[in-house]
Amino acid sequence: MIKPSKLGYADFAAKDIEAMEHYYTEVMGLSLVEEGDDGKRYLSTGLDHHNMVLIPSNESNLRCIGFQLDSDVLLQDAKKELQKQGISVELKSDARPGISELLELKDPDGFIIHLYTNMEMPAPRFKEHGIAPNKLGHLALGSMDSIKSAKFYQNILKFDYTDKIGERANFLTCNTDHHVLNISSLGKYIGSPNLYHLAFELRDASHQYRSLDILAKNNIPVVWGPTRHTAGHNIAAYHHDPDGNLVELFIDMDQLIPGLGYFNPRPWHEEFPLKPRYWADNVAWGTAYEKTLFEHALKKFQNITN
Ligand SMILES: [Fe+2]
Repeated sequence: MIKPSKLGYADFAAKDIEAMEHYYTEVMGLSLVEEGDDGKRYLSTGLDHHNMVLIPSNESNLRCIGFQLDSDVLLQDAKKELQKQGISVELKSDARPGISELLELKDPDGFIIHLYTNMEMPAPRFKEHGIAPNKLGHLALGSMDSIKSAKFYQNILKFDYTDKIGERANFLTCNTDHHVLNISSLGKYIGSPNLYHLAFELRDASHQYRSLDILAKNNIPVVWGPTRHTAGHNIAAYHHDPDGNLVELFIDMDQLIPGLGYFNPRPWHEEFPLKPRYWADNVAWGTAYEKTLFEHALKKFQNITN
């Protein structure tokens, strides 16, 4: 069975490559492990050769997602299994630094997917400065057809479905984190597949406070949060990187017990046991307090203008 164990890396075309390198190394606190002759920057959160790649470009977008399979999987066998399911897939050797062999395929939105078993682990460790997150935790994709895309990840790559918000967000995991992918309908509304946001996991609330102070010192405004989400229950705060990508910093994400089909219980859960479920669109993705605050502000504004 082909099932990734972790989100390994994400490649980004970067318009303002210098500013992006500065932000991801000095503010986010990732380590620059290697810079290619082609100007690609390979960045690590602490162990792997890379968890993020910045590609100099005249555009800004998500180019590729890498998932790591268990080390005992044979890529030749995985290739045959994917082909049997009608997936077009290529086995590549030395396609990128740090990985000797990988499978390349595309998801229904055309995002390039890499599957690999081994990556070099130079272990630059965690930086003493900058945010220095635990890991790249999840990607939220803006899909043209979120149902079709979610089915691909469930049926072909054996992701577990965890939650759904209305018709616009599908949460999937390949490990115990509540979501490694959030397949949203944003692409359909915008007219092309895109990245909704990328998210880094932090260690605890004090790390989150310190991270927001680091953003403030670098004149980077927080655009939303911290707030505890419904689906996933992560406490999340959002800001933009220099290219305008939305970046989430989160703690406290729900942890799935896959064999039991429910999440590790937490005091803030609405149900016991909390199982993968559907969240109504009008109550999810914001706390009641924020909703109330927004409605008060709206009413006040309407009273002034009427
Ligand atoms: Fe997120």
